[in-house]
Amino acid sequence: MSEGESKSTHFGYKTVEADKKAELVAGVFHSVAAKYDIMNDVMSFGIHRYWKRYTIEVSGARPGMKVLDLAGGTGDLTAKFSHLVGDKGEVVLADINDSMLKVGRTKLRDKGIVNNVSYVQANAEALPFPDNHFDIITIAFGLRNVTDKDAALRSMNRVLKPGGKLLVLEFSKPQHEIMRKVYDLYSFKVLPKMGEFITKDADSYEYLAESIRMHPDQDTLKQMMVDAGFEQCDYTNMTDGIVALHRGYKF
Ligand SMILES: C[S@@+](CC[C@H](N)C(=O)[O-])C[C@H]1O[C@@H](n2cnc3c(N)ncnc32)[C@H](O)[C@@H]1O
Repeated sequence: MSEGESKSTHFGYKTVEADKKAELVAGVFHSVAAKYDIMNDVMSFGIHRYWKRYTIEVSGARPGMKVLDLAGGTGDLTAKFSHLVGDKGEVVLADINDSMLKVGRTKLRDKGIVNNVSYVQANAEALPFPDNHFDIITIAFGLRNVTDKDAALRSMNRVLKPGGKLLVLEFSKPQHEIMRKVYDLYSFKVLPKMGEFITKDADSYEYLAESIRMHPDQDTLKQMMVDAGFEQCDYTNMTDGIVALHRGYKF
């Protein structure tokens, strides 16, 4: 039985009814949307910019391509893709949460990014796009929050063109014990305090730390991608595996 078919699932370390998780996740991102970008820089010491830059490099985005930045939030990847695909290409920033979309749209418009980007409120589990539509799909720090990850991966496979590439950038499992210890200390003792100070919301950053621990590790996620129909799946660990970039193709 897949996670989404079961009656319960996890929201961080809590067990909740599966049909309640989306609402709880929505609460987190409505709460942090306005301070999301600054919090990302502070809590990762700016390293998330490097993880995202590497993702863009691996994407191979070129002029004229159609790109889906799924769970795109405040649009960091969308902004970069918009420059790469140019006027003949298109980038869709899709996210389930209208607060995050609103912050993203305002930020990108302020940067003058208007021509080739559209914004769609959508659930990754049931994407409202035609079959075989996108050359590239990215989902950065989004899959962890989705209730039925298998359904979401199948949905991404459906809307990807044959020859297209999926990139999943997500927190994963640090490779060395010493790193795990330091990271645990940081995540559970420091992060919620930073969240409290900057966003006045410690709970959302406690959820972040817990949801990372509950997320499938590198090899499990790779197998989930294979099961959803992706081929030539592999991954690259970054920062000792605190984050991994998974890649898979549809043929
Ligand atoms: C941690 S943010 C990542 C935002 C952006 N991709 C980045 O890397 O900065 C996670 C995003 O996933 C979105 N999300 C959560 N569940 C989703 C779902 N089922 N479908 C689409 N987006 C979802 C949230 O609304 C949020 O904007």
